[in-house]
Amino acid sequence: MKILDGKAIAEQIKEEIKLQVAQYIDDGNRPPHLAAVIVGNNPASETYIKNKEKNSKLVGFTSTVYHLPADTSESELLNVVQFLNEDSEVDGFIVQLPLPQHINEERIINNINPEKDVDGFHPINIGKMVLDLDTFLPATPSGIIELLKRYNIQTAGKHAVVIGRSNIVGTPLSILLSRKNEHANCTVTICHSYTPDIKEFSLQADILIAAIGRPAFVTADMVKEGAVVIDVGINAIPDETKKSGFRSVGDVDFDEVSKKASWITPVPGGVGPMTIVSLLMNTLKAYKRRFNIT
Ligand code: GUN
Repeated sequence: MKILDGKAIAEQIKEEIKLQVAQYIDDGNRPPHLAAVIVGNNPASETYIKNKEKNSKLVGFTSTVYHLPADTSESELLNVVQFLNEDSEVDGFIVQLPLPQHINEERIINNINPEKDVDGFHPINIGKMVLDLDTFLPATPSGIIELLKRYNIQTAGKHAVVIGRSNIVGTPLSILLSRKNEHANCTVTICHSYTPDIKEFSLQADILIAAIGRPAFVTADMVKEGAVVIDVGINAIPDETKKSGFRSVGDVDFDEVSKKASWITPVPGGVGPMTIVSLLMNTLKAYKRRFNIT
């Protein structure tokens, strides 16, 4: 078993971004600016946002985080979205999901300017992704493709089985993996809560992607010998030995599955850091588009 070290690859990519940003600034441009909006205080969302802010700064971006209280109304949030859409100092922004129950996520996403939608969640950007047009790809799926690419994992003709069909991971990833492209060309199966026997499919996977949000859902008996296993899950489970009282575990039973896999992503340090660098790459793209930098 070999580790797909998302943390190390993310460090490499951040260095590449940092060099580009330094060059743009040398050329007299202002730095790229990524803004983020978080509503309420979901601990997982707070951790993501802190990480995004830290990494933005690391590569030389400026960044702003808008922390809004949990009882923010939908129209107040729409006003913030409108403000960011119009702010010429902001190249891209994200609204951290999930939002509180009383806010309609779809309405919020639909109101983000697609040119600033560095999450790639707006229907226009999703449509462009499906049609293979130039767009902002959703960060987690594009981070996974980049990780496979940088490790030279052969994907063409392989059977990829994606467990989970969310709008932000499973569905877009299934599209990207099936794309006619050197780093895709997979035959793709999506499994979900209505799949009667997930194991029947997961056992056929050359590349198995777990994106369900259930700790250690994928066990060794569900994995083919030599499979490439990608774990998207970040589940907080109680752990008294940790200062925070929690530790992160993936959707894959790493200890057992790693004995069968040819390659596997750890949690933490696998897909998570790749998601963040994909967001940085999208922000750089938004910035370059805005200033017509080629
Ligand atoms: N919540 C979990 N993942 C994401 C993400 O990639 N972007 C946003 N905006 N919210 C998330």
